Amino acid sequence: MYVVHICSEISPLAQAGGLADVISGLSSACIKKKDHVDIILPKYDSINYSLIENLTVYIQDLYVPFGGEHVHTTVWEGNYRGLKFFLIDPHSSQHYFNRSHIYGFDDDPERFVFFSKAALTFLHESGRHPDILHLHDWATACVAPLYHELYKSQFDVGAILLNIHNLSHQGRCHPDVIELAGLKPHLYHTPNQLSDPVHPSQINLLKGGILFSDKVVAVSPTYAKEIQTREYGFHLDSILAKHSKKLEGILNGIDYADWDPAEDAYLYKKFPKTQRASSIRKAKRANKENLFERLGLEPTDGPTVAAISRIVSQKSPYLIRYAMETTLAYGGNFILVGTVGDRHYTEEFHSLQNIYRQSKNVAILLEFNHELSHQVFAAADMLVIPSRFEPCGLTQMCAMRYGTVPIVTATGGLKDTVIDANTPPSPNHTPNGFTFPEPTETSLDQALKRSITMFKEDKKSWDNLIRSGMSRTFCWDSPSNQYRILYHKTLTSKGKKHIY
Ligand code: GLC
Repeated sequence: MYVVHICSEISPLAQAGGLADVISGLSSACIKKKDHVDIILPKYDSINYSLIENLTVYIQDLYVPFGGEHVHTTVWEGNYRGLKFFLIDPHSSQHYFNRSHIYGFDDDPERFVFFSKAALTFLHESGRHPDILHLHDWATACVAPLYHELYKSQFDVGAILLNIHNLSHQGRCHPDVIELAGLKPHLYHTPNQLSDPVHPSQINLLKGGILFSDKVVAVSPTYAKEIQTREYGFHLDSILAKHSKKLEGILNGIDYADWDPAEDAYLYKKFPKTQRASSIRKAKRANKENLFERLGLEPTDGPTVAAISRIVSQKSPYLIRYAMETTLAYGGNFILVGTVGDRHYTEEFHSLQNIYRQSKNVAILLEFNHELSHQVFAAADMLVIPSRFEPCGLTQMCAMRYGTVPIVTATGGLKDTVIDANTPPSPNHTPNGFTFPEPTETSLDQALKRSITMFKEDKKSWDNLIRSGMSRTFCWDSPSNQYRILYHKTLTSKGKKHIY
């Protein structure tokens, strides 16, 4: 099977969120199963080039038709830990990818529509015939209509899959943007095609991906259902419901090589291989003491609650703050490791950081710090994730692997992975955390209270939660099988045999 991912992120080279982890995790798992996987990405200035092996020019002069011109572009190839990727490097005056970060510019739709067109031009010119073109979110969704309109007659692709990692970003833009890439607005800027359902004068790139892909995959089964409802559908619910036959939900995995408490080089004390409660408690205690000393915290007899999150509206920043204040009121410690994404929250969280600067019970670290995240997972007793919606969520899985009990809103992938302590155990459903139905203060407060009470008063049940979280498997093995089955099924339903 020959799979080509066309995507805007890959971990750890170019990462803004969880999508990057999915690209590297899924690709590595498929390669292990003998698939041939290529990854096409923009050549951002912000990539950490020291990590790339064998970076060389693959095509010096590729000319990408865009906006009536042929944009001179170089394609590079390189490797990272067995992953093969191609980087698209346009030499245009717009400097699409020579910028400080990945997203957040007014011309984002144009940048990524260009990238989508360039990726297809590259595949065509280099004589590739992927069995599967795998697209991710709005940034590369436009590959699907572009292939359909401009390339189908020129080169064969088995099938196109679009992953939805987050429906709230859709790539709304002026119709001129798709015209630059060669899609005629009079054909594509119509309600049945790419017109945005809310702002009909605009184009919606993600909608284009949904309409023209053979399969659409949401990153958890619950999210696949939720996005067909008004509440979670961000105005694309009726289109998704109409195409529900091609919609599936596959839960993401986490990279077990990266997240292994028994081998984790970032930890002060590695975890034992056994899941004996007393040994895990001992390892956690050692990691906690070390981390507390470094962060200037003093232990209490309450739990250490953590939040490791981007601070954006999806993650309910006000509830993260509320969880912090409530934990303190209940006599625990709180550690927040967060990156402030929305400008709106920057001020609030920086002033919160100032308020608690001298506190011996709270540490607020407003940075993306991979190493520290590992150490916090190992040291904390609980991880709170009060998201408004959560397509999959990866931190609850990392937390469980490190014996940290998740407290989460029952939504999306959080609902699919965290089983509340009050649920009667069944073979596939052993409780491993706490869920609350709504992202509200009352609802979160009840879950926090229940968990802190159990932590303090019922060590045996607490140990059972930890053990059940640690023994559930969240690696990429099963999700990658599900993707491979889906690849095969989709090709077969189109009467195509896979070539490689
Ligand atoms: C997005 C979602 C997150 C998901 C990740 C990877 O960041 O918000 O829930 O885990 O994509 O699919």
